[in-house]
Amino acid sequence: MCGIMGYSGPRPPLPLLVSGLERLEYRGYDSSGVAFFNDRGSIDVLRAAGKVSILKERVGLLEGHPGAAIGHIRWATHGAPTVENAHPHRSGPIALVHNGIIENEQALRERLKSEGVHFQSETDTEVLAHLIRREYERTGEFADSVSKALVQVEGSYALAILCQDAPADLIAVRQGPPLILGMGEGESFVASDIPAFLHFTRQVYSFQSGEIGLIRHGEVRIGTLSTPLSSWKSPVARTISWDPFFAEKGSYRHFMEKEIFESSRALMDTLADRIAPGNLLPELLPLAPFPPPSLTFVACGTSWHAALLGRSFMESMGIPSTVEIASEFRYRPLLIPKGSWVIGISQSGETADTLGALELARKEGFRTLGISNVPGSSLERESDLCLLTHAGPEVGVASTKAFHSQVALLMLFSLALSGRNHETHELAALTRSPHRLETFLEAISPERYDQVVERLRHSRLVMFAGRGVDYPLALEGALKFKEITYHPADGYPGGELKHGPIALVEPGVTIVAPMVEIGLRQKEISNLREIRARGGYVLAIGHSIEESQRGIWYDDKIDLPDGPVWSGVFQAASVLQYVSYRVAVALGNDVDQPRNLAKSVTVE
Ligand code: F6R
Repeated sequence: MCGIMGYSGPRPPLPLLVSGLERLEYRGYDSSGVAFFNDRGSIDVLRAAGKVSILKERVGLLEGHPGAAIGHIRWATHGAPTVENAHPHRSGPIALVHNGIIENEQALRERLKSEGVHFQSETDTEVLAHLIRREYERTGEFADSVSKALVQVEGSYALAILCQDAPADLIAVRQGPPLILGMGEGESFVASDIPAFLHFTRQVYSFQSGEIGLIRHGEVRIGTLSTPLSSWKSPVARTISWDPFFAEKGSYRHFMEKEIFESSRALMDTLADRIAPGNLLPELLPLAPFPPPSLTFVACGTSWHAALLGRSFMESMGIPSTVEIASEFRYRPLLIPKGSWVIGISQSGETADTLGALELARKEGFRTLGISNVPGSSLERESDLCLLTHAGPEVGVASTKAFHSQVALLMLFSLALSGRNHETHELAALTRSPHRLETFLEAISPERYDQVVERLRHSRLVMFAGRGVDYPLALEGALKFKEITYHPADGYPGGELKHGPIALVEPGVTIVAPMVEIGLRQKEISNLREIRARGGYVLAIGHSIEESQRGIWYDDKIDLPDGPVWSGVFQAASVLQYVSYRVAVALGNDVDQPRNLAKSVTVE
């Protein structure tokens, strides 16, 4: 996880590194640090335990000498989140930052120790700095020494490296975790994610795994660890359409809040150009077998919940579908029908478990598809075809607008696969859903939620329950709630409550019930009555919930506009996200960077 950033160019590097690290902070926030050249031409390192704001204070008015510089934010894997373990790590003339895990760290550490090397930290990264230094002392060649050192290393890494003797040079290497190059006028950036440098350039190149780049201001040459520097070539950049505003909070208090309110735009951008009647999702056309006999979705967390919704839409169109948690799927026998498509869903496109599950399917000869929000992600490169959601960068660690865009794409996918690509009521509903959601979000009155927030905040336990499409919504509501409020919460199928979870119900317990699925409403109402009969408090979220029923099967409600399920799921998801957001803010939690989490989970 962790985030790295590097710069080579004429600007004083520290201000841009610190602001880039702030934009990468969703990837980890245990410690941070920078390495840069001072006016005497030597490398200085500044590090701090905790969030980037602490590093920012330490950096103060320092700007750093123009040339190359690197920075890092850490999500601790090897060693506690202390200053000693913070990156950059140094060995003699070499300083580097790392995202990933070195698997043969122990063996390398022992060998280096036996050769007289003293370690300053508990991190696996430090061995890389010592290894490169040793090669550099032998060869005097910066790029060559990096290649020679890294062939001894097993594991995954994205690295940005400085050398005291080459103040304009930055070496970047990718073996696994993401690494993106941003190409400006006479300057270049590398970072774990695009928002870090989006204010400076939209010309990007995604490093392939196994590639190494030598970057000197605007000149970049890229090769592999096994090819000589003389054969390295200039990369071909592509222009991305992301608006730099996406990487700013604007007038919102948190990225999560901003991103909740950007969901309608995320839907609009994801559906644009793909929803012409008669020509839905044109990207699918070259694929065979079309339609496939069945689909298997693999994903984690919120993306898994989007997949569960996707299954409902597919099944409603007669397309057999299963949904698997990627980390489980990849270690089970692969017994899915021949000809199935295996579809990995991942906002970041870098989740190790999802990538691992797709790799397994590909090796077994299945057609693989990715659904990702990040252009150039590993998922895009490693699947046969990748459908991009266009939610724009999502900075808040808790996923919001990306979920909406995944769900919209899956709805469209179900129509395209089932051949219902001309006017149907589902297509009409989907076409109208961005606008309906926009109108709904604009009408949200924060005061309306005050009482709900107080109730949830002081509840002994909050449970989420729903049937049909409301079940994945309940799971997603519970995940959002627990990850940012830190209060226990779980989601259940409404009909399952009586098989165990109802034992938890007593006064002081609240059940949040998304109720978009009109066909199953009466069944759900029966389940909720059982909750109320045992002292539970029911908060219902849906349309056409009669006021006269208050106190009969529900205690409070949040009204959604009348409309089809295909619009209702988006509105209900927004309500669930907003409610959790508001409770977390009321509790004074760090909403955008909840404890122990990182946005892009590149470890198993
Ligand atoms: C929850 C959340 C996580 C991610 C999960 C998968 O709000 O963000 O549960 O959904 O880590 O991430 P991606 O979609 O990037 O594969």
